[in-house]
Amino acid sequence: MTFTDVKTYFLANRASVAELPWHEAAPLIPAELRAVRASLQTFQRGEGTGGDHLLDLANQYGVPDYAAAMQLFIAEEEGHAEMLGRFMDQQGIPRLHTHWLHEVFRTLGRPLGLEHMVRVILTAEVVAAVYYRALAEATCSNLLRQICRRILHDEEMHLAFHCLAIRQWSFGRGRLSVWLWRQFYRGLMAGTALVVYAASWRTFGAGGYGVGRFCAAIAAEYRRLEGMQRPGGVLALRNAHELMDSPANGHAGVCPVSSPRISMPQ
Ligand SMILES: [Fe+2]
Ligand SMILES: [Fe+2]
Repeated sequence: MTFTDVKTYFLANRASVAELPWHEAAPLIPAELRAVRASLQTFQRGEGTGGDHLLDLANQYGVPDYAAAMQLFIAEEEGHAEMLGRFMDQQGIPRLHTHWLHEVFRTLGRPLGLEHMVRVILTAEVVAAVYYRALAEATCSNLLRQICRRILHDEEMHLAFHCLAIRQWSFGRGRLSVWLWRQFYRGLMAGTALVVYAASWRTFGAGGYGVGRFCAAIAAEYRRLEGMQRPGGVLALRNAHELMDSPANGHAGVCPVSSPRISMPQ
């Protein structure tokens, strides 16, 4: 996989956006609204932020296809924010102008240049990969589940794109340096995961992700990405079935019988 491949994929992915069932705007039932409201506000605010600075850094890197892929990546993240925002508008959930988690991530990513910023973003993407699986299980809304499914589909190439870049930047570095940075970013991942869980535990819990299951899911996801960053590691994209293979004990068990479940293509 090359940055040209990533750019081509993003262009094709943008063209293939399926229309979501926005007419299915039934109000969330009170229990699920309590479970998802705050986390929706947090993640909607977090999607697609910091794009201008990131794009400046990508342009300075001097690889045109990398910069073009980064621009398309940022546009996809902004699309996620818009999808979630539109859903929140329909449900009467106010959009946030700022959130402390969003400010923390912006501050963490800024000072140390492109590689550090991409690694911080990757940390957030790992949490998001687990969050949208939990959110899909925590809601009875077919529309919200479809939004989760679309975002999870998009995130697969985001993860591969960042791992591809990190792999190239790590090439030729000393083993000790690579090991030390790996430990640092593992620490960042663990800290980020715990903070996000503490802020959005209602959704994770309703989606069947208690603390133990959540930590295991984060660890598995992060291990997979570390493998993709190694020389020769396979940059793999998972399909919808694998992505939505969530625990069965989520909040959605209390949904009315008539609530349709989304189909999961193999
Ligand atoms: Fe996203
Ligand atoms: Fe993403």
